[in-house]
Amino acid sequence: MPSNPSPIGVFDSGVGGLSVLRHIRAQLPHEHLLYFADSGFAPYGDKPEQVVAARSLAVAAFLVERGAKAIVVACNTATVAAIKTLRAHYPHMPIVGVEPGLKPAAAATRNGTVGVMATAGTLAGEKFLKLRDQIASDGKVAFLLQACVGLVEQIELGELDSAATRAVLARYVAPLLDQGADTLVLGCTHYPFVRAAIEDLIAARAGRAVSLIDTGDAVARHLANLLDAGGLKNADEGAASVAGYTTASATALAAAFSSLLGVSVPVSEVQIAAKAAS
Ligand code: DGL
Repeated sequence: MPSNPSPIGVFDSGVGGLSVLRHIRAQLPHEHLLYFADSGFAPYGDKPEQVVAARSLAVAAFLVERGAKAIVVACNTATVAAIKTLRAHYPHMPIVGVEPGLKPAAAATRNGTVGVMATAGTLAGEKFLKLRDQIASDGKVAFLLQACVGLVEQIELGELDSAATRAVLARYVAPLLDQGADTLVLGCTHYPFVRAAIEDLIAARAGRAVSLIDTGDAVARHLANLLDAGGLKNADEGAASVAGYTTASATALAAAFSSLLGVSVPVSEVQIAAKAAS
């Protein structure tokens, strides 16, 4: 069996991608992982597509220079803005993106009303709107789009359950529940970290069951399939390493690994210049 011990590169604008990385670790426990948090430039969600694409290219180049055999764009906003460009730059490398789980939400909803929580950048992206139109075309499901401005910042601060975070959540989730949504898509990789606070809000307000859709597990499965198909898995069953890189504070990213995933990881601070997307 072929074996490839090179690491997998995973990135996000900040700590959100750790919600995807935890599924990758669970499904691919023998793979070495490099995690890049572009926290110095977070949030991506309110920036123009070209800016996010240029950051994404620079981060991918950094990970490839460190030997990455595959890249996971663990960010919905960067996937919308940059996945095409990244695949054009690295045509022979598996590049896996993250998209809001509209399909699983359409399958889960009982009343046909689905709320989609995501960044403004994701919801305005052509790629996302195409997917929405495709799935909504049979008229069975209505998608209520809700940009959650300010929520990523709260999660970057590590405030998963503060009064301020609950207030931000109430501003965005309550109108979706009041309009009848029985399914909410967590369309930003940061949001699974405030799942408990969202569930509390639902319990207090909705008076009905509401499903929450997160695609981290499906993304990790897709990555595993691509590694299998390409003969790229690491056959060495020894303990795999995780290393973190950040464009902001190493202490903050190390603290996020520890509080969000319960692991202690070496983290380095790096600076990288954005790359023009042409
Ligand atoms: N975690 C990101 C996403 O999935 C980006 C959040 C942001 O930087 O605005 O969209």
